[in-house]
Amino acid sequence: MTKSPRIVRTLADLRAALHPHRLAGERIGFVPTMGALHDGHMSLVQRAQAACGISVVSIFVNPTQFAPGEDLDVYPRTEAADLARLAEVGCDLVYLPSVGEMYPEGSRTDVRVNGLSDLLDGIHRPHFFYGVATVVARLFIHVQPDVAVFGEKDYQQLQVIRRMVRDLGFAIEIVGAPTWRDADGLAQSSRNTYLDREDRRTAGAINQVLHRAACRLAAGRSGEEVLREARATLERVGFERVDYVALVDPDSLEALAPGPLQRGQAARLLVAAWLGQTRLIDNMDGSRRV
Ligand code: PAJ
Repeated sequence: MTKSPRIVRTLADLRAALHPHRLAGERIGFVPTMGALHDGHMSLVQRAQAACGISVVSIFVNPTQFAPGEDLDVYPRTEAADLARLAEVGCDLVYLPSVGEMYPEGSRTDVRVNGLSDLLDGIHRPHFFYGVATVVARLFIHVQPDVAVFGEKDYQQLQVIRRMVRDLGFAIEIVGAPTWRDADGLAQSSRNTYLDREDRRTAGAINQVLHRAACRLAAGRSGEEVLREARATLERVGFERVDYVALVDPDSLEALAPGPLQRGQAARLLVAAWLGQTRLIDNMDGSRRV
């Protein structure tokens, strides 16, 4: 199926394009992205289409979530290829706002989800989740979707958005979609294109390390020991810097006590580590079921 999506670049055009659908009572499913679309993004679009009559994807490389010295200038921008992929899956509408459209001249309003934004990735990228919450809140107000789909690949981001929606009373159902992976387990990411051949070979280990850690936790091993082993393995196989390997409560993201998990206890394993100039993140359910 190939159907060119309608393309809008301004808030006024977006509202005009969505108005008749809203009047007709159609549900609007939304997937915010920064472009350089891959199969993981496409799986989110299909999830939105399954839930709603109208699918909207935004492509906006959001400057406020990049710190000075991060990869804002070199972040891959592949608009033509992105639009072709969205046509293939039959996406209805693509919103491609400019920086001025998202942040009108003199803009002074931020959204901060305190606490959740300051843990894990927030320690290493202190500006990051404030930029994400601010742009996603603005996108939600622009699009006014019924459903918005986010990937579990960015697990902390998903939790920050869920909390923001609850705190601010957005009438939007947030759907978390499973992580789309390459055959060796590496989570697909627009930034994987930065990896050279050797680093790409090493990168799959991050997921294998999480798998092994989850199995050990399920077998009743202590969290502290499992995390220590996971970190040591990552360092041994070639990750130059491990920002964190963590075992946390899946909702609050607070670190769990160091001993074995209780039977039936819910937990999430998260990792961030560097290969060359590329920072990779991954996460997995670490619950102990029986
Ligand atoms: P981006 O990295 O483009 O990701 C857009 C959405 O795709 C996010 O919800 C992300 O979790 C999801 N995604 C990325 N890789 C995935 C994979 N391998 N499997 C499943 N889902 C995946 O995340 C952002 O953009 C931005 O922070 C944004 C929310 C758009 C705000 O600027």
